[in-house]
Amino acid sequence: MVSPVTVNQSLITVSELESVFGEQVKDFHNAMANGTSKGAEYLGWRNLPEEVLANELEDVLAVADKLRKVAEIVVVIGVGGSYLGAKAVQDALSPYFEKKSEDPEIIFAGQNLSGTYMKQLLNYINSKEVAVIVISKSGTTTEPAIAFRVLLEYMEGRYGTSASERIVAITDKSAGALRELTNRSGFASFVVPDDVGGRFSVFTPVGLLPLAVAGIDIKQLLSGAKDAVQEFSAADIASNSAYQYAALRNHLLNEGFNIEILASFVPRFATFHEWWKQLFGESEGKDGKGVYPASVAYPTDLHSMGQYVQDGRRELYETFVQFVESMEDSAIPTSADNLDGLNYLADKTMNEINEVTLRATMEAHEAGGVPLILLQVGKHDAYHIGYLIYFFETACAMSAYLLGVNPFDQPGVEEYKKNIFRMLEKPGFVG
Ligand code: PA5
Repeated sequence: MVSPVTVNQSLITVSELESVFGEQVKDFHNAMANGTSKGAEYLGWRNLPEEVLANELEDVLAVADKLRKVAEIVVVIGVGGSYLGAKAVQDALSPYFEKKSEDPEIIFAGQNLSGTYMKQLLNYINSKEVAVIVISKSGTTTEPAIAFRVLLEYMEGRYGTSASERIVAITDKSAGALRELTNRSGFASFVVPDDVGGRFSVFTPVGLLPLAVAGIDIKQLLSGAKDAVQEFSAADIASNSAYQYAALRNHLLNEGFNIEILASFVPRFATFHEWWKQLFGESEGKDGKGVYPASVAYPTDLHSMGQYVQDGRRELYETFVQFVESMEDSAIPTSADNLDGLNYLADKTMNEINEVTLRATMEAHEAGGVPLILLQVGKHDAYHIGYLIYFFETACAMSAYLLGVNPFDQPGVEEYKKNIFRMLEKPGFVG
């Protein structure tokens, strides 16, 4: 069987990668397996797909079903790893325009602090039946906590004592303000496991509940991820393409390429870029190290960032994601007068031209001195997206270990928070 995700590149042979990184990769692989690697207390994501399929899936589906029955619109509150995975997968797998009438609309809050956004959100949801999913592993993050305070007041004002039946919390099993509020108010709730960090939590209720509510096939998503667990269980670069990608990133960094641009030609995949940027940026960018993760949505960005990529400073490389089997397609019609001169394309479809544009772009950028990696994904569906997420998670953990950092902490994120607390004079805060 062809692997659902393949890594293609002509920068360095796999045996050269093996000779430079092979021993370290094996050591880190074994350290992860034995629970002795840096941040080993956060390795729970490695077995999530199987565990969730076996234990938690039915509960998630049952709660999702309940929310789908009562709500026309579901507000999902969360930030960072507590919202990007769900939003990325939902956008990637939803139709561009018309959604199915039985699927509630999902909107997000708590990922920004715009009062205008919140004001307009409250106006927008007012004419619809509403439910709320509030997600915060720590239960103390300021942005979602503020959004939840506003929405809780709204829900209580609108639904009175039955508001709590329309609210589901996903948080720590015992710690944090959100857990306490949940226990007191009787919201339905799910636990974010202690050993899974935010950006690795797509396959917990953090990602799965909003997706199931949106009508995404989470069984297929998990089934792709479960197959990926098997596929990426090998310790050697030659038989583990996630480790190959991790080693390649470190090879390119050592060669002076310190910016990676994720590029795709599928508009609804653009939010996935944001999830990928968080995964790699927050996992690797520490101790003065790391590849800076950037992204472009082509062909749109060929007309903006394309110039820089082709011709600017030579410190970037590009990782293209290509979906091999295309979905629906549009034919290009023949025109009787051919005034636009496009009749030469009339026997082709738009997806075919999109694919030619991808190849043309790769050829141009390679000629411009941009090292290229091509990740080919078999099909654009829930199974392959689940597989791809696990591929990137595995690659990210290994890539960070090869870089010499702990993939699972984010100490730098605390700095701005201290300033906020000082500036807003939080009681008891000594900064
Ligand atoms: O990946 C991470 O750990 C972070 O992005 C967190 O998900 C984010 O800061 C939100 O944290 P919390 O879920 O505790 O509110």
